[in-house]
Amino acid sequence: MSASPSSPSRSVIVTRLRAAGSVFAEDEARLLISAARTPAALAAMVDRRVAGIPLEHVLGWAEFCGLRISVDLGVFVPRRRTELLVRQAAALARQAASRAGQGLARHRSVVVDLCCGSGAVGAALAAALERVELYAVDIDPAAVRCARRNLAAVGAQVYEGDLYEPLPTTLRGRVDVLVANAPYVPTEAVGMLPSEARIHEPRVALDGGADGLDVLRRVAVGAPLWLAPGAHLLVETSDRQAPQTVEIMARCRLIPRVARSEELNATVVIGTRPARHGDRTAS
Ligand SMILES: C[S@@+](CC[C@H](N)C(=O)[O-])C[C@H]1O[C@@H](n2cnc3c(N)ncnc32)[C@H](O)[C@@H]1O
Repeated sequence: MSASPSSPSRSVIVTRLRAAGSVFAEDEARLLISAARTPAALAAMVDRRVAGIPLEHVLGWAEFCGLRISVDLGVFVPRRRTELLVRQAAALARQAASRAGQGLARHRSVVVDLCCGSGAVGAALAAALERVELYAVDIDPAAVRCARRNLAAVGAQVYEGDLYEPLPTTLRGRVDVLVANAPYVPTEAVGMLPSEARIHEPRVALDGGADGLDVLRRVAVGAPLWLAPGAHLLVETSDRQAPQTVEIMARCRLIPRVARSEELNATVVIGTRPARHGDRTAS
């Protein structure tokens, strides 16, 4: 929609957004104006944004890895830093595919996105990889509904349930890349998050227990059963939690390493299942 005489002008929108604390008021105004179908819709969207609803929930989508991901109210908004998880996972899946595909028919990477939320990570991996068999799981029905929509085009299976519990047992020992952007905020720190997260995202998406690592621990414990030999578990964590996450992976007999992006302010811990029994060399 272009601004019309009956709709709030761009400068009025920018001023209201700025007054409400938006740092990117110009960009937000442009997005809201282009998303609204009518002047009344635009006015309502601006009101919702000024009331503190995350921009992505007002728009109904978030940009992630160059994709437009649908994000419903009450579903975790994919963060830019999670692009590191996607980059690392895509690189490892490509390596596995090229090893498996040597002299054989082209390999379909088996990818599992645990704690999938809107399905953003899985969708980005499907877009980055040539051939993928994708499974996604979330415990929150609203997230599952959203992920099913975002992942329908890539033929993913999306399950509702607790971590590995709903996955088909036929996947055991076959997964090439297992990604989890699980909740990792320590319970005590949840109250200090910006209000957009604290109020508008579900607690189950944020609260990782006393040290923030409760869900990650359970992900790591379960991973060796599902990973193919030589395959990888990748989890997003904070820089501060990385050493503990490394220990957790090592205790689960996964060979750990840390990937860090200063540009994205992102940390990913990667645990590799040894290729053969007793093999301690990560690929
Ligand atoms: C930090 S959000 C990440 C969502 C998505 N992966 C992303 O990066 O946008 C964590 C997600 O984990 C889900 N979750 C929390 N505990 C879970 C569990 N035990 N089993 C499956 N999903 C869980 C939440 O519902 C939430 O959608």
